[in-house]
Amino acid sequence: MMGNLVANKGETRLQRLQNWVVGSLGLRVDEWQMPLLARLLDQRAQVFDDVDALEQGRACELREQIINTLTLGESYFFRHARQFELLRHKVLPELILTAAPTGTLRVLSVGCASGEEAYSLAILLEEACGSARMDWWIEAVDLCEQRLERARAARYGDWSLRSTAGTLRRQWFNRQESHYEVVPGLRERVRFSARNLGDPAIDLWREGGFDLVLCRNVLGRMEPAALERGLGHLAAALKPGGLLFLGGDEALRGRADLFAPRGEGSNVYYQRTNDAGAPAPRPQAARLTPGPSPLWLRNGRDTVFELWRQERLGQALHLADSLTMRDRSDTELMLCQTMLLLRLQRVPEAQRLGVRLLAQTTTPGIGAAAHYAKALGHELRAELQDAEQSYRQAARLDAGFALPHLRLGLLARQQRDAVTAEQELALAAELLPQEDERRLLICGHGLDLDELLAQCQTEQPVAEPA
Ligand SMILES: C[S@@+](CC[C@H](N)C(=O)[O-])C[C@H]1O[C@@H](n2cnc3c(N)ncnc32)[C@H](O)[C@@H]1O
Repeated sequence: MMGNLVANKGETRLQRLQNWVVGSLGLRVDEWQMPLLARLLDQRAQVFDDVDALEQGRACELREQIINTLTLGESYFFRHARQFELLRHKVLPELILTAAPTGTLRVLSVGCASGEEAYSLAILLEEACGSARMDWWIEAVDLCEQRLERARAARYGDWSLRSTAGTLRRQWFNRQESHYEVVPGLRERVRFSARNLGDPAIDLWREGGFDLVLCRNVLGRMEPAALERGLGHLAAALKPGGLLFLGGDEALRGRADLFAPRGEGSNVYYQRTNDAGAPAPRPQAARLTPGPSPLWLRNGRDTVFELWRQERLGQALHLADSLTMRDRSDTELMLCQTMLLLRLQRVPEAQRLGVRLLAQTTTPGIGAAAHYAKALGHELRAELQDAEQSYRQAARLDAGFALPHLRLGLLARQQRDAVTAEQELALAAELLPQEDERRLLICGHGLDLDELLAQCQTEQPVAEPA
């Protein structure tokens, strides 16, 4: 009876839901899963239209239920043990040699579920990189927020550690009454975030900065178009020559052009080819600061700015995140994080952090820049009156700060207020040559002094915030 009701009443909703799952989540819906989706819809009071809500990015609970219904989150430490052996004895030592000029190994775990794969990698990386004086980071992503929450909590039971040797358990976990907790030294090197491999707008695969990517036991649930895009994103995420590990029985399914197979038998992995259609290779950074490890602790702040100068924004943000985890009172770094988030178009996160920064800072210069960041966030959301107010507040707090005047001038020009535009741009042009080099880097949207001065010329076209 209930089944009939679902089928009749929910047919079009169900069809729309299926389309949303395929189009937006990029997940396959098999015939046998349709009744499961129907049941999910049926369980919900029809106070509002669920599919509309999903399309508008609401109905987060339903989204999670759908992901939990259509995908498995099963994982455990050192799953596919032979791959981890290969990583430990061959792949990581070789990668450390190749990555030596940058001083950093960057690894991406796609479909990390509750984090076991990422932390297993963290153990190997800490072992291999510690002795090689090499810095390392892991980005770990998944579709499912609930699994990511468990990953961030980093607490695991015996079952998750069923393939983990006792020596590793003792070294890398703190034993609690009913569970094991990953030690903080590893946790702070792994960053978890919700990302969809099929989504082209994600900065992680636009930056091409990873030496190694693991995407294991993920591809099988993706629908064909998302899968094809996803394989392209895996290639784009890797540096030329970077390595990809898939799950034991997974294959490249039609995108073999992007990678060359390495290894043998059941231990095949893949190397990104240089003409994989991914972004052009970036020039390798010179080793930034030679000397004793770890580099990021000694010269972390300088390295953030160096990465920023090279427009390696994702890496700069990652480093700034980790540094502020160690010192939460460092408001200059918080400002860097906020501005980097804005540059990467992660506006809601930038706004949340900006609010904390404004509450925390007692330094007028940082306060002024924090108001400037707030204004930029408003501008990116087309809240122009709020933006103007915050730019004015920034200019009031620091009379030598050129950039709020520049933006006020450009806003006035957009609104055809020629008098204000001329005044503000003239003031910006006067102040810009004396601006602090770091503040220009942080607040200058990737433009150098000459380019910013050029924006002050009245004939220049209106610029959008970067
Ligand atoms: C079976 S788990 C694999 C966990 C781990 N990689 C391992 O092999 O142990 C698969 C995970 O992939 C995630 N997933 C599926 N499709 C995804 C996509 N398009 N983008 C990101 N994560 C995805 C699921 O949410 C799930 O947590």
